[in-house]
Amino acid sequence: MKDSNALVKDNRQVAQDTYLMTLMCELSPFTPGQFLMLRLTSTCEPFLRRPLAILSYNEGAVEILYKVRGEGTSLLAEKKKGEELSVLGPLGKGFSDPRPEEEAVYIAGGTGLPPILAMAERMKRGRLIIGTYTKDDIPLWQRMQNIGGVEITATTEDGSLGIRGVATQALDGLLKTIQQPCVIYACGPTGMLKAAASLAKDLGARCEVSIEERMACGFGVCSACAVRTTTGNQRVCTQGPVFDASSIEWRQ
Ligand SMILES: Cc1cc2nc3c(=O)[nH]c(=O)nc-3n(C[C@H](O)[C@H](O)[C@H](O)COP(=O)(O)OP(=O)(O)OC[C@H]3O[C@@H](n4cnc5c(N)ncnc54)[C@H](O)[C@@H]3O)c2cc1C
Ligand code: FES
Repeated sequence: MKDSNALVKDNRQVAQDTYLMTLMCELSPFTPGQFLMLRLTSTCEPFLRRPLAILSYNEGAVEILYKVRGEGTSLLAEKKKGEELSVLGPLGKGFSDPRPEEEAVYIAGGTGLPPILAMAERMKRGRLIIGTYTKDDIPLWQRMQNIGGVEITATTEDGSLGIRGVATQALDGLLKTIQQPCVIYACGPTGMLKAAASLAKDLGARCEVSIEERMACGFGVCSACAVRTTTGNQRVCTQGPVFDASSIEWRQ
């Protein structure tokens, strides 16, 4: 874990309420699923850093992809080229690689695309399902198409792109067509993760989920991010955010 000063190189809107930011800073190598804690101002407001997954890191340039939700992400969207941010990370535990015999299936919804896209771009094989409400919510569509070896499926609830419906319906259909062992990597709303975990269980497939719990410190000292698992409460920031889906005791 390292606290670094990062310089904004680029910050542009790439979908509805969604921005891609490139920051120049020195990071250790990261595993997809790991995240940064960003301090958004040099004052005490907002007091807490905000957690954002690392989309890519290459030659001192780190990409984050974020949706404007509230105060912190609104401040982030206002950052201009040349401004500085304090960045802590890479933090947490990322996804494990697929085994050689496993087909990799990636599924993302809500703000869950960055760690999933990072994983697909790293592995360059498998199938990726991105689910949103409408096509204007899908960021980096062309970039996803350009990942060699990864087949992309979009689902939109309004039917404006790809399959009409939710991502887990497409996952259910896709899993029925795969003849070999598979591993599912998921990040998104809790309902989606729970449904992916259930489909994986039925199939006897491995499933890793990245959980976007609200965080305060980001490095294991406050317990704000605890989730219930089969082995007791675990901190998402240090023992996750990636967990074996079968270990999570999902909220009803
Ligand atoms: C490990 C991790 C990685 C993440 N990676 C990304 C990413 O790559 N891109 C991205 O867009 N977002 C990501 N998030 C979510 C992101 O951290 C929150 O959206 C952000 O902190 C909201 O801050 P805010 O000040 O804008 O909103 P706030 O003012 O704090 O909250 C606005 C609204 O969003 C809800 N909210 C805030 N944080 C979360 C959360 N963690 N989970 C669910 N609901 C929340 C609040 O309940 C409230 O309704 C990640 C979260 C975690 C824990
Ligand atoms: S956010 Fe403080 S322990 Fe996880």
